[in-house]
Amino acid sequence: MHNSYEFDYLIIGSGAAGLFAASKLATHGKVAVVNKGEFSESSTWYAQGGIAGVMDASDSVESHIADTLKAGSGLCHEDAVRNIISRGNRIISELISFGTAFDSDNGVLHLTQEAAHSHRRIAHAKDATGKAVGEALLAPVSNNPNITAFQHHMAVDVITARHLGRYTQGPDRCLGAYVLTPEGEVITIAARHTILATGGAGKVYLFTSNPHVSTGDGVAMAWRAGCPVMNMEFIQFHPTCLYNPLGSTQLLTEALRGEGAYLTDATGRRFMPDYDAQAEMAPRDIVARAIDHEMKKQGADHMYLDARHLGKEKIEAHFPNILQRLLDIGIDLREQAVPIVPAAHYLCGGVQTDVAGRTSIDGLHVIGESACTGLHGANRLASNSLLECLVMAELCAESIAEHDSGPLPRLPEWDASGVEPETERVQIKQNWEEIRTTMSNYVGIVRSDERLRRARRRLAMIREEIASYYWQHPIGRDLIELRNLSLVAELIVRSAQSRKESRGLHYSTDHPESLTQARDTVLVPESL
Ligand code: FAD
Ligand code: SIN
Repeated sequence: MHNSYEFDYLIIGSGAAGLFAASKLATHGKVAVVNKGEFSESSTWYAQGGIAGVMDASDSVESHIADTLKAGSGLCHEDAVRNIISRGNRIISELISFGTAFDSDNGVLHLTQEAAHSHRRIAHAKDATGKAVGEALLAPVSNNPNITAFQHHMAVDVITARHLGRYTQGPDRCLGAYVLTPEGEVITIAARHTILATGGAGKVYLFTSNPHVSTGDGVAMAWRAGCPVMNMEFIQFHPTCLYNPLGSTQLLTEALRGEGAYLTDATGRRFMPDYDAQAEMAPRDIVARAIDHEMKKQGADHMYLDARHLGKEKIEAHFPNILQRLLDIGIDLREQAVPIVPAAHYLCGGVQTDVAGRTSIDGLHVIGESACTGLHGANRLASNSLLECLVMAELCAESIAEHDSGPLPRLPEWDASGVEPETERVQIKQNWEEIRTTMSNYVGIVRSDERLRRARRRLAMIREEIASYYWQHPIGRDLIELRNLSLVAELIVRSAQSRKESRGLHYSTDHPESLTQARDTVLVPESL
């Protein structure tokens, strides 16, 4: 078996960001795409509502920018917003040229509506946009002789000059990554440029809309390599995920509310008009907090999403996948209100980058949900994330293709000496559950100083346990993920503790007001 490889470009992750970057970079050199699961296991593939862009003459880029800035509660970086939003129309057109079958009427795109957008501007493929986009992006990657896919391979850590003792002065340089094979070996992939496109970290919480792969690996790897992270306290909870105590949850797209569905309590009362003039169409932070508040006030396990008045025809035509998945568990969206709860959905923070994914380390780039460009500020506007993934992938590929970083040194093999086989795995399971419960109970939609203190103490203990276990035993996927999850959880708590105000998705009962000046939370790895 080969245990070392060399490529021009190493891309870790095969969601929208990774696949689009791969197809762009394949014209410039040899590309490796490493992906720890199936191609269909990514947030990209799960996306429902669609991708935002200005596609209608009555809409404008300025209006889309204004909506994004407003949702972001004063924390967006306007230059990043302008840069990304102004490319929406072209990116959607390019997706169409890749073969994405967006819904249309007589050749005119059908645009749906989502909360806090002042126009219909979401291009969609019924209620399964992510699958349509993912398939379109995957086709050119699968057939490309310049691209090698390492499926079911998991990146463990990136390798930098500093780690090899080769660092002298100036920025550190990334040289590739250690990757775990399906057989349990760790191989070395050297590359002139490494791109982390590993998605979000929803698995830090007990209830999430995210796939199992969303364990914050890219953020954790970049942090361990020395990259600062930004705004990690801003976790977006999607207001309407299925309440399903006997099974896994699933998203009920915001487009349902966009097309007119209501949020109600068990008596059928619409409660959102009591909280915001935009009612069900208020930004997600407001809607999720209102649901949480009603649940706590009424002692209820869930609220309801009621789409019955949209009519059978519209539900069947626009939301066939959600309709079917609910029917499979005995709920008919056409005939009954659906029990819902908010669930962790999107990481607005991430590794601090510019819109081309540049980090503080030469040759290391982070794109997509793992990155924080400043586009989303304190609360992401719906359907802006697929757009961000694609714009970042494109700009990253352009900037890399212009930049030749010179020859690579020989990288050392993974050192597994001194590790002993595990005798039991109960500790891994226990730590997974403890992290997710702690984060859900103490670092959820509503936070307080005391809850954050408790979470920090528990997480520090868990991380210490994991650190010693990690170096003593052979590594496997669940242990690597656990190590990353615990680090990302701690970064979320530390960021939340340093924000002494409430803003967007971060609400603290001890600091309920917003400060007059909005500031990013930037954490820097102290000791390497
Ligand atoms: P992902 O698509 O999550 O891909 C991450 C990839 O990294 C996966 O291939 C994974 O296997 C791989 N990976 C992770 N860690 C490792 C590792 N250590 N080694 C190797 N591979 C690794 N946004 C919108 O704009 N519109 C929507 O309608 C929308 N709907 C959504 C619905 C759901 C249910 C969810 C969960 C999210 C939705 N979002 C939506 C958000 C959006 O889908 C994501 O932000 C976006 O797809 C992220 O893309 P990505 O390429 O950054 O990561
Ligand atoms: C949804 O369809 O509600 C999700 C859209 C998003 O998260 O951008």
